[in-house]
Amino acid sequence: MLRYLPPIHDPRVLVGTNTNDDAAVYLLTEECALVATVDYFTPIVDDPYFFGAIAAANALSDIYAMGAEPLFALNLVGFPRGTLPIEVLGEILRGGADKLAEAGIAAIGGHSIDDQEPKFGMCVIGTVHPQRVVRNAGAVPGDRLYLTKPLGTGIISTAIKRGVASPAAVEAAIQSMTALNRGAALAMQQTGVHAATDVTGFGLLGHLHEMVRASGVGARVERARVPLLPTVVDLACADVVPGGTRRNYESVRESVRWAPDVPLWEQLLLCDAQTSGGLLIAVPVERAAAFEQALQQHGVRSWACVGEILPQEGVIEVV
Ligand code: CO
Ligand code: CO
Repeated sequence: MLRYLPPIHDPRVLVGTNTNDDAAVYLLTEECALVATVDYFTPIVDDPYFFGAIAAANALSDIYAMGAEPLFALNLVGFPRGTLPIEVLGEILRGGADKLAEAGIAAIGGHSIDDQEPKFGMCVIGTVHPQRVVRNAGAVPGDRLYLTKPLGTGIISTAIKRGVASPAAVEAAIQSMTALNRGAALAMQQTGVHAATDVTGFGLLGHLHEMVRASGVGARVERARVPLLPTVVDLACADVVPGGTRRNYESVRESVRWAPDVPLWEQLLLCDAQTSGGLLIAVPVERAAAFEQALQQHGVRSWACVGEILPQEGVIEVV
């Protein structure tokens, strides 16, 4: 869709619409750039409080993916007044506000409309030093690839809709989706990395594909190292897979070289459309140990080194 927009000529636009990055970056002074992003969606879990918290963590994630610090948020609300009790909206807003408070910020404005289907999200504004913007371009061959959350939220959301998700799986998915990517962003800034993005709607391989294309490199993913949410293997084997995941699979197909023993369910799993997924980070190999230490220091759980950057442009090997 971005190709329908006119080209940008303002030199203060450090990151605009032409690079498929996570957030816009706008130069204010030599020391400070503004970072802005917006994200909203329909409920993916039944509990309105957690829906609000997930939407907030997801909106903040694009700020963290750029290596930036959030300053404040604006709420975006669609709600069917008269159909659902207003207390439900109260819970959504409370979940969002609690998550922002955990990030050290607040929603200081917003907009709501009457809407048949509830929707919630945020515009988040942050800052970053102009020299420390982390883009999705910049990965170089030899970099280690890190993923900071397990995969499978799309599959579990579909299982919830079909009434086949186990309570343990739902709890694990909610815990993962409400976790802030703040610790991973701090670890990134502390260590210095080459490139990053957050894993959301296009899935691990879709977002990795954007990163390698933007960087003019390729990558290898070691599937056995990719962290997964509980029960997603069984669900994927039982074909509990969202439409978005299948579309992701189709769109990366020509760029991915699957080892001959990777079953279809696992191929789909690696393309699973995520909500509030982890950061995918390319770290220079000589800083990998320091980065791992920093992740631990900042309390990031379930991170993994899932592969490395290779020279062959645009090609992703899955072994
Ligand atoms: Co993003
Ligand atoms: Co986004």
